[in-house]
Amino acid sequence: MVKVLFPMIAPAALDVAGSPKAGLGQISKGPPLSEQDPKAPARSFGQRTRLVHAGRDPFEQHGFINTPIYRGSTVLSRSVKELQERRARFIYGTRGTPTTEALEKAWSEIAGAAGTVLVPSGLAAVSLALLSVVAAGDHVLVADSVYRPTRQFCDLVLHRLAVETTYYRPDLGADIQTFIRPNTRVIFTESPGSQSLDMQDIPAIADVAHRAGICLIMDNTWATPLFFPPHARGVDLAVEAGTKYLSGHSDLLLGLVSANAAFWPQLRQTFDAFAMCAGPEDVFLALRGLRSMDLRLREAERQALELAHWLAARPEVARVLHPAMSDYPGHAIWKRDFLGSSGLFSIILKPASPAAVAAMLDGLSLFGMGYSWGGFESLIIPFDCTDYRTATTWNPGGPSLRLQVGLEDIEDLKADLAEGFARLNATS
Ligand SMILES: Cc1ncc(COP(=O)(O)O)c(C=O)c1O
Repeated sequence: MVKVLFPMIAPAALDVAGSPKAGLGQISKGPPLSEQDPKAPARSFGQRTRLVHAGRDPFEQHGFINTPIYRGSTVLSRSVKELQERRARFIYGTRGTPTTEALEKAWSEIAGAAGTVLVPSGLAAVSLALLSVVAAGDHVLVADSVYRPTRQFCDLVLHRLAVETTYYRPDLGADIQTFIRPNTRVIFTESPGSQSLDMQDIPAIADVAHRAGICLIMDNTWATPLFFPPHARGVDLAVEAGTKYLSGHSDLLLGLVSANAAFWPQLRQTFDAFAMCAGPEDVFLALRGLRSMDLRLREAERQALELAHWLAARPEVARVLHPAMSDYPGHAIWKRDFLGSSGLFSIILKPASPAAVAAMLDGLSLFGMGYSWGGFESLIIPFDCTDYRTATTWNPGGPSLRLQVGLEDIEDLKADLAEGFARLNATS
């Protein structure tokens, strides 16, 4: 059994900043926690210590530090009784292995969740979270700024299942109340939105949702639980594309859905019904990524902020969309609710032709052009939300670029962009 070094932290056990209250985390190199003297003084641990130890028990695997990759479908039982009563710790490959259990437990501890399931991609996590709570005839509210494939899932699959979607302005806050109908079952948020970086007042929305008995789902991929403890802020189901910062190396696809105690049973039940399980190698790599996630995320934050300030001073840039910058609309919400900012932000250029933007981007030598983010390498993409927003109008006044800032030397990144701006200026 994977020893839970840090017992599951219920949302109520987190202080307002989302940090564990002193005395909750306990670690032991000696007997299992269950055999320890309950009167022994508890030790508390910081986030990095928790990331290093969560979900691991080396002495379950001959002293080796990391939980190995268990591959397999069939799991043998020792007796008819054990088989029929499903007594064994593992039943079948789709239901979990020691490898998946290690990450599920670790993530639940880090996110302050009652339980977590692992699925093959971030988008699969979005769809599983929604399908765990809706039924035909229901209505869902979705922020207009969500990851576009989330919209496509709602418009195609939920629509086909007779679930109606209404998109709302991300800046509504408590006014979301006016959109609630008797059959509204879910509010789906993503804050900040992963292109336009719109912030949402999650605690205010959670308050409205819970008074109406509605499930609040949040795609928390931008901040991760390290910078936004979702369940402590009132989120019922939190989605994470582990493909991004948990992986950190652009070499896997993974999704995680964590739930508070109220929604855990139905999440787990729906997950088991689908058997939409993650691949063992990806889970192993994600466990490896987890151990250094805090360091990578904080470095991405530092680098991105430096680049964002540098870009704000460039004559070619009209606006920088970065929630941690003091002049950004939504900055006050970020400052109140978040514990940090990640390496993803956007800029709006002053008016420039498509040819000039292409000249800038095509010639970049360090910034790659490609989807996704959260890896060690810097990326840049042009984006345009004009065609698909329905509750808001996207009219930024110039070309929009999204940057994912990696771990390269920051001066090299600035030089790459400066050369790009020179090409932009030289092209009409
Ligand atoms: C905010 C957000 N959520 C979910 C996803 C989906 O993750 P995946 O690529 O693993 O399907 C992405 C991917 O870019 C994303 O940006």
